[in-house]
Amino acid sequence: ANMSSANGPKVFVSRRIPEKAKALITSQCNAILWEKDEPPPRDEYLKAIAGIDGLFCLLTDKIDAELLDAAGPNLRVVSTMSVGYDHVDVKECAKRNVAVGYTPGILTKATAELTIALLLAATRRLKEGIRAVENGEWGTWKPMWLCGQGLDGATVGIVGLGRIGYTVAQCLNPFGVAKFLYSGGRRPDAEVELKAEYADLDRLYAESDFVIACCALTPETAGMFNADAFKKMKKTAVFVNSSRGGVVNQDDLCAALQSGEIGAAGLDVTTPEPLPTDSPLLRLSNCVVLPHIGSATHDTREAMAVLAAQNLIAGVKGEKLPSQVE
Ligand code: DGY
Repeated sequence: ANMSSANGPKVFVSRRIPEKAKALITSQCNAILWEKDEPPPRDEYLKAIAGIDGLFCLLTDKIDAELLDAAGPNLRVVSTMSVGYDHVDVKECAKRNVAVGYTPGILTKATAELTIALLLAATRRLKEGIRAVENGEWGTWKPMWLCGQGLDGATVGIVGLGRIGYTVAQCLNPFGVAKFLYSGGRRPDAEVELKAEYADLDRLYAESDFVIACCALTPETAGMFNADAFKKMKKTAVFVNSSRGGVVNQDDLCAALQSGEIGAAGLDVTTPEPLPTDSPLLRLSNCVVLPHIGSATHDTREAMAVLAAQNLIAGVKGEKLPSQVE
């Protein structure tokens, strides 16, 4: 770990981050920087944060009572470089008067874009196609080879029509989607703009050609995509998840893909991450798995890091954070 020379509040940054955000932090804080792409081992993490005023963390870091205690009573802010904060025990933070910062909004477009890339990859069988080209299995042009299901005329079900879910729907609309169904929080604006219909999960599963999980991981959504849910979906349904692996019962998903209970899946998030290479999901031709890269555009990652730095700096000064978890 490196120490910045600046005086000021003591902060810990748990990973190598974009230069602009790092410069912002080191210009105002006495920063301990863990400048690696791998997180600190837990015991080193707990030692390094003793006495800090602010913590810049990532979604891989479990921010629980033990860690907050290790930081000690000076801690005023936990700033995560992510929109998801299921890894942060927000209640324990509140108990200790620790503000929690996150990065909503700025990664919406990038994540929606990747969600659509996954959906198209899964439904148009890109993984099988790429493999066939590379393996020499591409014979001649065949009328019925590698056919999938298009979006034109399709019904798309979105579970969690929040910032990202809404943007996914807006971007899919021009493909000729016939109907959007959604569940979760009510969005009257989507009902006007996209003629989206609010539906209970049973209806959404039964009628959707595509089921897209865009919900946050909470105790209510944990494991909600299970055998029961997949059974209710169409045999041809394409399931896409760009939220958190924890919303899916992965064994059930694997079984549903194997038995043909559903048609295909595209996952940007898994349990655990990284997904072990011997995971049965990876042997399925109808399952596309990506390594949690929804927000991975250069500009987005920089903007996320800068906003997380701004949250951190506001927090150590005792100011309201630009993006605070309420
Ligand atoms: C988040 O921000 O929560 C994503 O998972 C990573 O961008």
